[in-house]
Amino acid sequence: MDIKSYLKERGGLVNSFLSSYFDKPFLPAVLRESMRYSLLAGGKRLRPILAMASYEACGKNPADIIQYASALELIHTYSLIHDDLPAMDNDDMRRGKPTNHKVYGEAIAILAGDGLLTEAFFMLLDTSGSVSKESLIEAAREVALAAGVHGMVGGQAQDIISENSEPEAQALQFIHKHKTGALITASVKLGGILAEADKNTLDALTSYGENLGVAFQIVDDILDVSGDASVLGKPTGSDEKKKKMTYPSLYGIDLSMKKAEELITNAIDALDIFSENAEPLREIAKYILKRRH
Ligand code: IPE
Ligand code: IPE
Ligand code: MG
Ligand code: MG
Ligand code: MG
Repeated sequence: MDIKSYLKERGGLVNSFLSSYFDKPFLPAVLRESMRYSLLAGGKRLRPILAMASYEACGKNPADIIQYASALELIHTYSLIHDDLPAMDNDDMRRGKPTNHKVYGEAIAILAGDGLLTEAFFMLLDTSGSVSKESLIEAAREVALAAGVHGMVGGQAQDIISENSEPEAQALQFIHKHKTGALITASVKLGGILAEADKNTLDALTSYGENLGVAFQIVDDILDVSGDASVLGKPTGSDEKKKKMTYPSLYGIDLSMKKAEELITNAIDALDIFSENAEPLREIAKYILKRRH
């Protein structure tokens, strides 16, 4: 399969869904504008694509869960808006545009993030479709756990606390597993939960997601050192400037890449129980290592 066109097609579905979902005006207009500014600025849409691909791996039709998959993108976009704030990474560019707070100011940027996070759970708990209520509740709880203090928020806090400290393997592992791995794992699990997959299948998807998630952040760290800001749509050298604890800062670029490759091999191995339905998940894993943005 051609992974590039697959990602483009699936990303397009997510983009259309999100833009029609946020089509309706609401007040204050500037809050809506600020949410749409970051949400519709582009982005790879990896988390919704993963959720749909794992639903597909379980033999289901991904179109059925587009709203639930897209809810993940609201949580992810909120995390980026807050991550870029002066109090956090203090970055000026995101998705090829000035960061949210640069355009709308810090207060509206914070509230846009809060609004996106909350709206995501409103979308996830919409029981009007064909998915069972029980599965939706389980999925929403899974996403809440992954996005909150036991997942992304905890990881982001540790990332901030660890600035300027000597890099150390255990803290680094904690940061990457939580700030990025948790939501990626939950995205993959979401597809399995909504498909009402059995425990064995969910365990396999979880292992795939955990390995993929950490590998994704290692590559993000590497791109911050050696990537091209105009391709990335965000600045390079941001981690060095903030003395972040990253894989390159502890292991150097080459060993970091080796570690990411090992994790991707583990992720693909975890999918052994699946048939060709899981080919997109396998190809996404390989693409993570090759990506330039
Ligand atoms: C950036 O995520 C933040 C990390 C968790 C590494 P992405 O690389 O998925 O960003 P977009 O969504 O494509 O902009
Ligand atoms: C952010 O990690 C992870 C999030 C949960 C937002 P980074 O701070 O490395 O992400 P970028 O490089 O700014 O996209
Ligand atoms: Mg950060
Ligand atoms: Mg950042
Ligand atoms: Mg980064």
